[in-house]
Amino acid sequence: MYRTHNCGELRLSNLNCEVTLAGWVQKVRNLGAMTFIDIRDRYGITQLVVDENSSEATKQTASELGREYVIQATGKVIERSAKNGKIATGDIEIAVSNLVILNAAETPPFTIEDNSDGGDDLRMKYRYLDLRRGPLKNAMILRHRMAQSIRSFLDKEGFLEIETPYLISSTPEGARDFVVPSRMNPGQFYALPQSPQTFKQLLMVAGYDKYFQIVRCFRDEDLRADRQPEFTQIDCEMSFVEQDDVIDVFERLAKHMFKTVLDIDFNEPFLRMPWAEAMDRFGSDKPDMRFGMEIHEITDLTRDRGFGVFDSAEYIGAIAATGCAGYSRKQIDELTEWAKRPQIGAKGLVWVKIETDGSIKSSVDKFYSAEDLKAWVERTEAQPGDLLLVVCGKKRKSQTILCELRLEMGRRLGLRDNTKFAPMWVVDFPLVEWDEETERFYAMHHPFTAPKPEDIQYFESDPGKIRANAYDFVVNGVEVGGGSIRIHDAKLQQQMFKTLGFTPEKAQLQFGFLMDAFKYGAPPHGGLAFGFDRMCSLFGGAESIRDYIAFPKNNSGRDTMIEAPSTLDPAQLEELNIKLDLKEE
Ligand code: AMO
Repeated sequence: MYRTHNCGELRLSNLNCEVTLAGWVQKVRNLGAMTFIDIRDRYGITQLVVDENSSEATKQTASELGREYVIQATGKVIERSAKNGKIATGDIEIAVSNLVILNAAETPPFTIEDNSDGGDDLRMKYRYLDLRRGPLKNAMILRHRMAQSIRSFLDKEGFLEIETPYLISSTPEGARDFVVPSRMNPGQFYALPQSPQTFKQLLMVAGYDKYFQIVRCFRDEDLRADRQPEFTQIDCEMSFVEQDDVIDVFERLAKHMFKTVLDIDFNEPFLRMPWAEAMDRFGSDKPDMRFGMEIHEITDLTRDRGFGVFDSAEYIGAIAATGCAGYSRKQIDELTEWAKRPQIGAKGLVWVKIETDGSIKSSVDKFYSAEDLKAWVERTEAQPGDLLLVVCGKKRKSQTILCELRLEMGRRLGLRDNTKFAPMWVVDFPLVEWDEETERFYAMHHPFTAPKPEDIQYFESDPGKIRANAYDFVVNGVEVGGGSIRIHDAKLQQQMFKTLGFTPEKAQLQFGFLMDAFKYGAPPHGGLAFGFDRMCSLFGGAESIRDYIAFPKNNSGRDTMIEAPSTLDPAQLEELNIKLDLKEE
């Protein structure tokens, strides 16, 4: 037996017990006559003492220890004279009678401490060492707890956990597929699923009316803090349901998670906001509702005063940055430069200061009278002390810029507190959106999303006007989940494919299996998927999902620890019938 206890469990109640612990050396402090060794495992840290009462062999072994050595220590639990309130085992220590080095360790490339001295790249390369650190360990534990809690909730609700394949053909979630060549079928490729979407719908046809899966999904898209090329969904589908039924189950699941993981009660129903309203008020389909500072359109209040930029703009909108009237010229210039960065894309910023005495100053005093500006202030509900930030241009683009400005000002003003949660549903998404570049409609969610029955009439005349039975679950400005009621009628599905510019042949080729299945009794159905990694980072109060994934990829989609992706052996390529024709960079 390697150990009788773990390194986090001994207390004063264990005094005088003879115990054996095994773990890693966190720290050695040699004080001459005494050596203190902190031994660490997943459960905690316990202090070992080697002193004059220890055997010569033990003293010798203690003198050989280095950081991260794997050791086994046997001894008696004794009370510590200098207690350490910071650790759970801080009242006791082990008087070591026998010390064994199970394995020596090279000096790690960074310190295995909660606040490590290792940079991101180094810690990614030695991820197994990084995972020894407290914050990552806690993230893994949180993830495990959440997964268990979700499984138990959905099991009680009657959901069946059913696995779906990873080697499939393309799924239409809008990102690029990762592909896998098939040796047995030369020239053919599998695609890794961007989600189990089509399979879960087939399970509904098969009669499994409540399905779920905690499942890996693969998307070849540009990475950000909340995006990984492989990530995990809590994927669900239900039959004989309408939008409210799906929202009901998953709102209860979310509340259950908030309660069990964070001990937060949400007694009221989560806010539901139509997509169009979210865009108008927050410039985003995932508004951060932890704070106000809403966007207000002031187009009608700005026309015909000789300010050409505003006169010719499609849309003029503003936010009132709370208490920022004191911003200096330099601060406003800096903010303007921030907004003009390509990622944000503003052409400029017009500002209006509402001084604490109520007087108004602006960067467009030349064109607008005090009366005019007062109307802006009233419309935007700006208060004395606020700074109005005004953006103009195309409507959607301006709203997006105002959204970014709002989030940035919210951040600067400390209004985006990670311990506060503002969950909501965004509903009534448009079914399709027009893309100027390719001049065609794209499914806003995916091509199986059902339109609202009352909007089906617009398929021929104005598809952009059709609202979908689609919903996103949004918390603190993060899209945590999304889903929809699906089309279960083959004719309507064909109409949808036609709107998306698929020829009947192409639709048959890509989704024939699903449309065929729908011929054999498809029940009305719908579902949703939560992004599990995003849920974990949100509950853990972190910005990046990376820390909640044991072995994540870096921003270039690389795993620098195992050096993936990597080149293939010529023999392997030949077996796969693949010849490379790499373009010069
Ligand atoms: P959707 O594409 O909205 O829906 O994905 C569902 C949720 O998955 C998370 N997510 C991601 N998380 C990390 N990295 C990524 N690259 C990434 N992409 C998405 C988000 C998102 O809300 N099949 C549909 C669901 C349905 O209709 O039932 C789907 O996949 O949190």
